[in-house]
Amino acid sequence: MGRRIVVTSGKGGVGKTTVVANLGIALALGGVSVVLVDGDIGLNNLDVALSAENRIIYDIGDVVAKKCRLKQALIRDENLDNLYLLPSAKLLPQDSISAQAFCAVINELDKDFDYVIIDCPAGIEQGFHRAVLPAREALVVTTPHISAVRDADKVLGLLTTYNIKEIGLIVNRVRGDLVIKEEAMSAREIAELLHTPLRGAIPEDDKLGFSGTFAETGSERCYNAYKMLAEAVACKGGKVYDCERPFQGLIYRFIHRRG
Ligand SMILES: Nc1ncnc2c1ncn2[C@@H]1O[C@H](COP(=O)(O)OP(=O)(O)OP(=O)(O)O)[C@@H](O)[C@H]1O
Ligand SMILES: [Mg+2]
Repeated sequence: MGRRIVVTSGKGGVGKTTVVANLGIALALGGVSVVLVDGDIGLNNLDVALSAENRIIYDIGDVVAKKCRLKQALIRDENLDNLYLLPSAKLLPQDSISAQAFCAVINELDKDFDYVIIDCPAGIEQGFHRAVLPAREALVVTTPHISAVRDADKVLGLLTTYNIKEIGLIVNRVRGDLVIKEEAMSAREIAELLHTPLRGAIPEDDKLGFSGTFAETGSERCYNAYKMLAEAVACKGGKVYDCERPFQGLIYRFIHRRG
């Protein structure tokens, strides 16, 4: 049986889909088999983040409607043969796939993969319920912004009403320069505030903002941050990328003081 992990958040747009795509690649680079499931029915962001949008023939809607077999809808990554995507049904309304039907799909995938990672839609309504229900672990994504942290807190409370055994926190878009200047909270401070184990800190990176994954952009710091996140997820603990470090050097501080 694989590990079923839902990646969720309180506030929308904090980076769930980006995290799912990059964590999937980082885990697959470590040799385990991974399937990424786009739980955002009606939208299709995960295939775009993975640059797989032109290779979709069938999607989860076709699987549920029995228009194809589950294996026919899976898209294998072009570079990693142990990484797959189950795309969302973009032409169907959000409520067209029931939570039970979604669970049945995840149960099937669970038999063949080490990791089933579900990209949760924004909000805490029906789409959230459907994405969280089959999961046994959750990774909650927040940015350092206070509104996102507050919404993450609400979602953490909501997750306790599900059959989720482990919850970890990912702080995305961390500006190490602002943390050093004490203008923003560090990832560790946010994790303490939310009483949730910190699994990863991902730096703000313009390149990642333009193109979905570190594999596409070649961003070394994002590669390192996601590699550490994958290790922490795999071991359920471990080190977290230090977003402040690049801004702690003497030269940086000297230039900054004069600027
Ligand atoms: N570390 C980062 N640095 C800079 N930009 C980022 C980073 N992570 C994500 N982004 C950008 O933030 C935007 C929102 O990301 P994403 O779509 O992954 O969020 P989401 O939580 O899935 O949104 P939704 O709630 O709508 O599903 C995207 O443009 C993405 O490229
Ligand atoms: Mg998304």
